[in-house]
Amino acid sequence: MPDHPRLVIASGNAGKLREYRDLLSDAGVDIVAFDSEVDEVGDTYAENARLKAETALAKSGLPALGDDSGIELDALDGFPGIGSARLGATQRDRTAELLSRLNGVPRPWLARFVCVIALAAANRETQFFEGECRGEVVPEWRGEAGFGYDPIFLVPRTWKTFGEMAPEEKRKYSHRAAAARALLESGALRQLGR
Ligand code: IMP
Repeated sequence: MPDHPRLVIASGNAGKLREYRDLLSDAGVDIVAFDSEVDEVGDTYAENARLKAETALAKSGLPALGDDSGIELDALDGFPGIGSARLGATQRDRTAELLSRLNGVPRPWLARFVCVIALAAANRETQFFEGECRGEVVPEWRGEAGFGYDPIFLVPRTWKTFGEMAPEEKRKYSHRAAAARALLESGALRQLGR
């Protein structure tokens, strides 16, 4: 079997790791999970993704992928955005807090998920890839699949929330899948082996 280059996924989020293992399964890389445990002090998704990827590269010596993502509500001017992970301690707390902010706001609660991937490798400029998924937040949990805000995020074309989708279906629509597609199409991962 040919040796594949290793690629670190710089995340401690089990949901994200599961998705990257699936999204990059045919990419010709061996995935290594590594939480670079950085403080997300950036002002943008790209800055935080860069911090995660470059810290993981520095600590592991391996090419690294950092991902920063969030959910943005149109009616709340993009809130919670890059603060999505910090809205509460648990998934239940975070979805409840977001829904409480929407109390009294007329529906539909249009929203988008955003994901920015940073790819850091030795002696190369860090590269960025972005994806989004537009949809709508619904007022009650539907389904238990996925992670984070998945159970309250409806993809209108499907009439299902991400929480009601199997992984194969979520990957057709998700922001993370779109960013991973851009990464794959760029050919950047093939360069890692050279
Ligand atoms: P971070 O990218 O680690 O800063 O975390 C982003 C936060 O946004 C996660 O903790 C989730 O709460 C939320 N999030 C990002 N992507 C998804 C997704 O695909 N489904 C549900 N929630 C997500």
